[in-house]
Amino acid sequence: NSESRAGQSLNGRWNAIIDPYENGYYDYRYEPLRNGYFKNAKPATKSDLVEYDFDAAAVLHVPGDWNTQRENLFFYEGTVWYKKSFDYALAHNRRLFLHFGGANYDAKTYLNGDKLGEHRGGFTPFEYEITQRVKPDGNFIVVKVDNRRLREGVPTVNTDWWNYGGLTREVRLIDVPETFIRDYSIALSKGSLSELELSVKLDGHAQKQRLRFEIQETGLTKQFSTNDTGYASLRIAASGLELWSPEHPKLYRIRIMSETDTISDEMGFRQIETRKSEVLLNGKPVFLRGISIHEEAPLRSGRATGIEDSRTLLQWAKELGCNYVRLAHYPHNETMAREAERLGLMVWAEIPVYWTILWDNPDTYANAEQQLCDMISRDKNRASIIIWSVANETPRSDARLAFLNKLITQARHMDQTRLISAATELTQTGDKILLDDPLCASLDVIGANEYIGWYSGKPEDCRKKAWSTNFDKPLVISEFGASAVIGRHGAPDERWTEEYQANVYTEQLGMLRKITFLRGMSPWILVDFRSPRRPLAGVQDYYNRKGLISNTGERKEAFYILQRFYDEMQSMHDTRFDH
Ligand code: GCU
Repeated sequence: NSESRAGQSLNGRWNAIIDPYENGYYDYRYEPLRNGYFKNAKPATKSDLVEYDFDAAAVLHVPGDWNTQRENLFFYEGTVWYKKSFDYALAHNRRLFLHFGGANYDAKTYLNGDKLGEHRGGFTPFEYEITQRVKPDGNFIVVKVDNRRLREGVPTVNTDWWNYGGLTREVRLIDVPETFIRDYSIALSKGSLSELELSVKLDGHAQKQRLRFEIQETGLTKQFSTNDTGYASLRIAASGLELWSPEHPKLYRIRIMSETDTISDEMGFRQIETRKSEVLLNGKPVFLRGISIHEEAPLRSGRATGIEDSRTLLQWAKELGCNYVRLAHYPHNETMAREAERLGLMVWAEIPVYWTILWDNPDTYANAEQQLCDMISRDKNRASIIIWSVANETPRSDARLAFLNKLITQARHMDQTRLISAATELTQTGDKILLDDPLCASLDVIGANEYIGWYSGKPEDCRKKAWSTNFDKPLVISEFGASAVIGRHGAPDERWTEEYQANVYTEQLGMLRKITFLRGMSPWILVDFRSPRRPLAGVQDYYNRKGLISNTGERKEAFYILQRFYDEMQSMHDTRFDH
């Protein structure tokens, strides 16, 4: 909950040196490191040789990818060195942290020439304590960001989205008391609608403290104490809470007060579970009327940043008639889960274990697990998130199954209150489609992508498909879709026209509505998005055109087909379940 903390934003103009040859990291010709850009060196005399100068270098805006800030960085994959100077008068007995919402892909951070640490993974937050290092004035941060794709990376070298590099999320200083509330989680106890489970972790010297938890609106207060490791975990009777749902996204302001710190947050309370092939929200069956979304800024393209982009994307999903969104294929910025909670949208959140990951590389697993832990740790208090997904379209193998099952065990260990899923592999034999991926045995909700009518067969083939499953579990079709160029019209069998895309949606929806164990879908995708794998000039121009809305914000015909379908679903569901 970094945004509720005191401190100072470091967003804005950073100086940046583009360094394709890693020149700034070491200089093999001179010892000691003369060139280390992280020193932000200046010539001491007029005859000194220093071959870089941040203050004379161009500026990049933070947060933001570098690709869409400069024409000559559009395809750039390599290192950019960022520098920001700041002053900060840290009060006595306070502690200061340098917090990054995210940086893609590998970030090495320095303060006043000293290395603070390294972080890998483009979509999860990280921070460093700088209490002992910060000076009242004249500090400088240098961050080396390298977005080169790595075979052993997570994701690996091949993805169908743009490899936006840089300090793509907010950077800020967080100022907290010497002993502060470092972490807390609050949720309805599993299976209960009238009991909360609260855990708190203090960080600092005064570990054993008396604390108070309160929900002002209901008058609920609870006194409790932390043990000598600064930890407390307790259950609190909480009857009469208005439950969070898409139709009624009720948020409560909570406060946790220790003897030395106070933190407040806003969150909803709800239960999500499955029973056989049903998904139950607060004990009632629900159908997940969704859409997939990439973290791409609407209209301007580039990495989405900040609350306006989140609100625009999620409002478009609401206009489509959604009660649910799939945030593909990696943890989105923190505002997405918060805005979804405010607007009333359930969320499928995902780590980028995507396609051909190096399954038998222990370091790749450690990377994936770290990203999973950071995603869960960051968003565990968001009622909007109902599903953690550990993978997308990963080819079946024993190594892949072991890797993913280990991730699932870790996710369940961290969070017993949410559902686990993944976009699994279907078996198609002629017109028979079978859910038989062994991974499904470990999932609560089975996700599956299929592109009948676009990548395989014709749209009308949908009419002949017979679906069956080896598992008595809910199915969510996590992707189907087709591409169309906005404003291009023709016959329904003419590829790239809006009519073709609309026809695929009509045929797909006709097929999907007949699947008795289907409990949701998140068609691919809300908005056209950039991809290096989509070069077709005059049609794709490095955009994946499966959006229901173009990158210029215009709705395609298929938008209205899905909107009508969800409208019918909602009225049918209301009659079927909400009587
Ligand atoms: C795959 C993949 C998506 C990709 C989509 C497509 O299912 O999960 O990331 O963009 O297909 O090919 O458009």
